[in-house]
Amino acid sequence: MQGIASIVMECCELLSNVSEEFGALTRPYGSRAMREANKVVSGWMRGAGMTVSQDEIGNLIGHYQGTGEKTLVLGSHLDTVRDAGKYDGILGVMIAIACVQRLHDRGERLPFSIEVAAFADEEGLRFGTAFLGSSVYAGAFDEELLNLQDQDGLTLREAVRAFGGDPDALKPEGRRDGDLLGYCEVHIEQGPVLEEHDLPVGIVTAINGQSRVGLVFDGKAGHAGTVPMEGRQDALCAAAEFVLEVERAAKAEPESVATVGEVATFPGAANVIPGRAEFSLDIRHQDDEVRERLRDHLKMRAEEIATSRGCGYEWQLRQETRAVPTDQDLSDLLAGAVEDSGIAVHRLPSGAGHDAAQLAGLTPVAMLFVRCKEGISHNPAESVTQEDVGVAVEVMDRFLERVKEGLSLS
Ligand code: HGY
Ligand code: MN
Ligand code: MN
Repeated sequence: MQGIASIVMECCELLSNVSEEFGALTRPYGSRAMREANKVVSGWMRGAGMTVSQDEIGNLIGHYQGTGEKTLVLGSHLDTVRDAGKYDGILGVMIAIACVQRLHDRGERLPFSIEVAAFADEEGLRFGTAFLGSSVYAGAFDEELLNLQDQDGLTLREAVRAFGGDPDALKPEGRRDGDLLGYCEVHIEQGPVLEEHDLPVGIVTAINGQSRVGLVFDGKAGHAGTVPMEGRQDALCAAAEFVLEVERAAKAEPESVATVGEVATFPGAANVIPGRAEFSLDIRHQDDEVRERLRDHLKMRAEEIATSRGCGYEWQLRQETRAVPTDQDLSDLLAGAVEDSGIAVHRLPSGAGHDAAQLAGLTPVAMLFVRCKEGISHNPAESVTQEDVGVAVEVMDRFLERVKEGLSLS
């Protein structure tokens, strides 16, 4: 397995240079870098004996024909966050292609087809909402999102068109779901648990729900040298008080996480009191009720803090995705493949969101986590070992075998 694992590692390394930024990996939806990545990956898909197509949102779909009517979907996402690591998303796409490559090299056709989906936007870096690619693929796209604007004022509608798709063809219609056996995604854990248990892979039990919010505090710009501290309507100070409240409230709610990852102040000059602060809020929990309670608390606090500082405020709920359990039967098949590989089975929830959460509305889903060093992710220091990647390929090979056996018994 180490031969194919080294090829997977090389492909991740190569793709890490396909970026919108020199010296950092940043590959947002619809960018030149995404176009380049799709071109490179489609070549690898064809080399593995797949026919390749690109859907209307820009997902890359490789199809490896089987002898039966059913289809098993594998895959993950090709887009990245800003200054990303090399493996988040891409590793799952490359391991899926590697599994098909091995079948192709053996001239083997399974009693089901395999579709490898390389999703065009999971992170939501450009438009602030995650899963644009997989929501289209799963027939769950929300057309309201087409009016979202990126930081240059371009709408998602325009971006879809510029990326070669028809924004009016993203509707949740005609998505075939009768022929799918399920979806299985391999992804780095992005957490420390597998390392703590000294395990190369693990089985995901559930994917936490998330709320993504855009906030604006509007104060009053003024001269930094002449306006007394008393009575300022400093939008950034209001935002700063809110950010510390986010940290306090999330720490007070066990198992919850809440993050302000983006902050922009206007007009943004050293000698001008910030008149406006725009920022993001990301709230996660495995229990939707807890997440919604925390969301509502922070919405109330945002209004209180803004008002107490003489600032206006806007709260735009951009996206909410509910917590999603993985499918028990498909996960048990995957766990069996882990046992067949001689590895102890460890089941764990995912704090990170994944495309599997979208696909769960369409077909049974399972996920295999791969250990990553110190759980680091969304960071160029993200890393996996070739050995663990080899184990993941072997587990997926055996998973395909178990799906095949399961089919023959049905
Ligand atoms: O944000 C997430 O959980 C994932 O990396 N998109
Ligand atoms: Mn990510
Ligand atoms: Mn990811």
